[in-house]
Order: sequence, then structure tokens, then C-alpha cells
Amino acid sequence: MVLRFSQPLRKLLPLLNCRESLRKESRNRNFPGGLFLMKSLRPFARKCRRLLRETRARMLRRLGLLGGDWTTGLPAELQFWEKALKDGGRSWNESEYRKRTDPKLELQEELKQLIPSAPGALVRILDVGAGPLTTLGKHWPGRNLEIVAVDPLAEQYAAMLARIPVRPLVPVVFAHAEKLLDHFPANSFDLAHASNSLDHSYDPLAAISQMLAVVKPCCYVYLWHFSNEGTHESFSGLHQWNFDSVKNDFVISDGKARHSVTAQFKLTAKVTCETMEAFGKPVVIAKLKKI
Ligand SMILES: C[S@@+](CC[C@H](N)C(=O)[O-])C[C@H]1O[C@@H](n2cnc3c(N)ncnc32)[C@H](O)[C@@H]1O
Repeated sequence: MVLRFSQPLRKLLPLLNCRESLRKESRNRNFPGGLFLMKSLRPFARKCRRLLRETRARMLRRLGLLGGDWTTGLPAELQFWEKALKDGGRSWNESEYRKRTDPKLELQEELKQLIPSAPGALVRILDVGAGPLTTLGKHWPGRNLEIVAVDPLAEQYAAMLARIPVRPLVPVVFAHAEKLLDHFPANSFDLAHASNSLDHSYDPLAAISQMLAVVKPCCYVYLWHFSNEGTHESFSGLHQWNFDSVKNDFVISDGKARHSVTAQFKLTAKVTCETMEAFGKPVVIAKLKKI
């Protein structure tokens, strides 16, 4: 049987084949709509490629064929931050850079709401996995705010910032999220905060347990993370965990086993979890109130 295609359909066929022929057709003067078609198909093609990449990552991870090592992943983190900060954030994110170096930046409203404190009170916040420059606002009018920022790369960050040079508003001190009680007494902070860091740690459940231990009773652990970074980053380097929000539960997975944070900490905390969007990506926000 011979298939006969109409003239416009014949023009369209190569477009279905691959990106290269799509590009060629878009340059063809006889097919001026090609460029428009190519542009409108681009987001769809990007989405398909991402889905394929993530499905492959999920399958390989389940088979135990994909994974990174925490210790060997740390140097890349340091390199990332040096590159991001050395030109004043221009090649990374200028507005983020400005916020992190602004001494007048107020403590974020969503965090203030979690800290019941009288005017004039001392408020102590622990930022876990803070990176070289904590994201937290540096003052709270009417309160005496003390921020303690910790990170396993504290020494390397200090040397890197001195090289650039950038003077951090809050010096970062050494601690692993999983071992906070080695450095701080139990029940000593009004809030423990982690952004984009526990999914880089080697044991996020142990980290949450330690964060709960160092906050005072009835105080909060606040966790802000991009969703499912393990899968998105193909479980490379420090990206070994998926964080997700499922029916108000905070769910942590290594790509093989899933852990409900609500169930895991039911005797020590009340957990709520939601998803929002930031920097064009879904973000999981979990709040754990210590019982
Ligand atoms: C992507 S950065 C995020 C930094 C900062 N919190 C922010 O929001 O920009 C991840 C940070 O997590 C830190 N990290 C990795 N493993 C950790 C662990 N076990 N305990 C605490 N922090 C850790 C890394 O050193 C790095 O500084």
C-alpha cells in the first residue's frame, strides 16, 4: 500500500522525527511556520526529556546502580559556593547574594510566627547546614536575635570567604546535622531551621531527631527543601534523598525505602507539611512542633 500525504502533511513529517530536522525545517523559507512550531514544542520536549531522565534515575537507583558518597560529594559543594559568591553573585543570583549580605534584612515573617516571644526577649535560632552565608534575616525589631549557623564545611567556607573576600554577617561553625548534641545542650534554641541542606546530609532522619532535641519544648523545627532533589539530580554527589509532601505528611526516601516523618516522630513532635513554589521549582516545607 502506498501512503499519500498531502503537501502540508509532508512538510510536517520530518518535524516529528527529531530536533535536527525540526531546526532545518524552521530555516526553510517554504515553511515559515517551522520556527513557531519548534518554539512551541520546546517546553514539551524538555519536559519529556526530564521525565525520561528521572524515570531512568528511579529505576537505576532501585537496582542499586546509582548513588554518590557523602564525603566525596563535599568538595563539589565548596566549589559551587566559591563560583556563586566570587563575583558578588552575578553568575549565580544577585538578589540572593544581596539578601544574604544585608545586615538590615529582617527575620522572615513565616519564622517569626513560629516563635512566641515577648518584646525584648532573647531569641536563639539554629541554622543547620547554613552554607557560607545564612539565608536568615539578621534582626527582629524589639527582640534580641542570636543566630547560630552550622555546617560540616564551616572551616573550608571561612577560608573561601577570606579569599574572595566576603565578610559573613554570621560566622559558620562546624557541626554535622546528625550530631548537634555533641555541640549544643538539649532544649537550648527557640527555633531550628534548615533550608536546602538536610537532603544533602548523610542521615536526614537522625538530623531531624537532633534538631528536635536542641529546640525547647513547644518550639519548632522548620525545614525548607526542593522536592525530590535525589531523583532530579540523578542521585549524584550530595543529592541522595527525596523529600516530598504527601497528604500533610513529610516523606523522606532514598529512592528505595520511604519514611513517614509523622510516624517516625509521633511521640516527640506534631508534623505538618505543605508544598509551594520557589525559584520555579516545587518546595516542601515541613514544620515540626516539639511536644
Ligand atoms: C545547597 S547548600 C544550602 C546552604 C544554605 N542552607 C542555603 O539555603 O543556601 C547545602 C549545605 O548542606 C550542607 N550539608 C551537607 N551535609 C550536611 C550534614 N550532614 N549536616 C549539615 N549540613 C550538611 C553542605 O555543606 C552545604 O553547605
